[in-house]
Amino acid sequence: MLQFFLILSAVYAMGMAAPLPDLFSYSPAVGDGSGTEFSTASEGRITGIRVWESNNYWGGYISGFQLRYESNWTAAVGVNSGNPMEMTLYDKEAIIQISGKYYSGYVYEVVFITNQGRLFKVGQSSGASFNFYPTQKGNELRFLSGRQNGSGITSIGAHWAAIRIGKP
Ligand SMILES: *[C@@H]1O[C@H](CO)[C@@H](O)[C@H](O)[C@H]1NC(C)=O
Ligand SMILES: *[C@@H]1O[C@H](CO)[C@@H](O)[C@H](O)[C@H]1NC(C)=O
Repeated sequence: MLQFFLILSAVYAMGMAAPLPDLFSYSPAVGDGSGTEFSTASEGRITGIRVWESNNYWGGYISGFQLRYESNWTAAVGVNSGNPMEMTLYDKEAIIQISGKYYSGYVYEVVFITNQGRLFKVGQSSGASFNFYPTQKGNELRFLSGRQNGSGITSIGAHWAAIRIGKP
């Protein structure tokens, strides 16, 4: 009886020690990252994106953005003046990849790619490239974090997870 119990505990301990799958992942922030931190973390599914671009003589950089969760827009991050570029996600559409460029202190380009194959591209293709995606299949963008300095977005990183079914 004791032996049986010991084997059972050993099996149980092994089970506990088995590696857990990545339930979430983080694509570390790129960019110089001056200024103050931001995070768009909110409840619910991401349903829209707005991006503001700043114009100067050598081309614009990403000055600000905003995400919509369910029917609520987050507070705008960075500068939100002028007309934003906007993408509305369909039901069951999710962001599964973000790529872009950063250069000389700012993020210059962001490209959001969805699980339905749509692209939302804003900015100028200058600088070093980045490419963010979840490490776990089926995960999607949950929120963005990074820094902005009052003029523009100076760094950006992405947080990925699965949306829990049945939870808004
Ligand atoms: C959206 O905002 C309203 C009003 O602030 C709030 O009651 C609701 O819970 C929010 N929805 C989500 C999904 O966060
Ligand atoms: C923000 O960072 C950019 C790029 O490094 C810099 O040129 C600009 O002066 C900074 N703006 C402020 C308000 O600090």
